[in-house]
Amino acid sequence: MRIVRTVQELRREVSDWRSSGFSVGLVPTMGALHAGHFSLVERATTETDRTCVTLFVNPKQFGPNEDFAVYPRDEEADAEALRDRGANLLFAPGIDEMYPEGSATSVSVPGLGDVLEGEFRPGFFTGVATVVSKLLIQSMPHRAYFGEKDYQQLCVIRRMSADLDLPVDIVGCPIIREPDGLALSSRNAYLSEEERTVAPRLQAALKYVADVAGSTGDHMDAARGAAAELVEAGFTSVDYLTVRDASSLEQTSDPSANLRVLAAAWLGKTRLIDNVAVG
Ligand code: PAJ
Repeated sequence: MRIVRTVQELRREVSDWRSSGFSVGLVPTMGALHAGHFSLVERATTETDRTCVTLFVNPKQFGPNEDFAVYPRDEEADAEALRDRGANLLFAPGIDEMYPEGSATSVSVPGLGDVLEGEFRPGFFTGVATVVSKLLIQSMPHRAYFGEKDYQQLCVIRRMSADLDLPVDIVGCPIIREPDGLALSSRNAYLSEEERTVAPRLQAALKYVADVAGSTGDHMDAARGAAAELVEAGFTSVDYLTVRDASSLEQTSDPSANLRVLAAAWLGKTRLIDNVAVG
C-alpha cells in the first residue's frame, strides 16, 4: 500500500489504475480507525479492483468549541491496519494541501444539512460536503463508501453528489456495533468506564421508539419518554431523539413513509450519535 500526501500523486495513481481498466473504490475517513471503518474498506476491496482510503482530520467540520485539537490521531497504526486489509493507496494530505492559502469555496446543502446535527453543529455539514466533494473530485472513484452510523451525513453526501453531477456511486454501509449494541465510534475512546456501561442505552432507546413507530403507535410520545429515560439512566442531556422520513429527514405523518429514528445525546463530555431503521 502506497501512502501519498499530494493531490498530484493521488491523481497520477488513480489515473494509472483507470487506464488499466480497474474500478476504483474510495473510503474517506478521519483516522483512528476501528472495525466500522474496516467494514467499509472490506466492502470496497470486495466490490472494486483498487481501494483508496483517505485520512484527513478536516478542520472545517469542527466548531470552535469542538475536539479538533484532541481528536485521536495514529497514522502509523491506521496505515498498518489498512495494509493488512488490502487497501492499495492511502491519501493522507496535510491541511495546506487540502486548503491552500486563499482557498475560499465551500459546498453547502441547505435543508438536509440544516436540521438535526446541522442545528446543533452549525457549519458541520458545509465542512463535510466541502471536503467530501474535494476528495471525490481529486480521486474520481467509481464508488465511494460511507457508513449509516452517520446517517444524516450519508443523506447530505448523496444529495451533494447528485446535485453536482459527480460520476460516482455513493454506497451506504450498515452500522458496526459492539456486542452490547454501542455503535463503534472513534469518540467512544473519550468515555469513562462508568459512562461506557450506560452508553448502550442509546441504541436500546432508538430500538424502542422504532418498534413503536413500526406498530403505528404514538412515536412522538415514545421519543419524549425514551429521551427522559436516557437522562434517568445517566445521560447528561439529549440534543434530539426523533422519528424522521428516511430520505428527506423531515417530520412526516404519512403512514407509508420509510422512517428512521435518529438521536444525539451527551454522556458527560462525550456526544454520541446513533440511528436505527423502522421496520
Ligand atoms: P469518520 O468519523 O472517520 O468516519 C469515516 C466513515 O466511517 C464514515 O462514512 C462513517 O459513517 C463510517 N463509520 C464510522 N463508524 C462506523 C460504524 N460504527 N459502522 C459503520 N460505519 C462507520 O465521517 C467522517 O469520518 C468524516 O465526516 C468524513 C466523511 C471522512 C469527512 O471528513
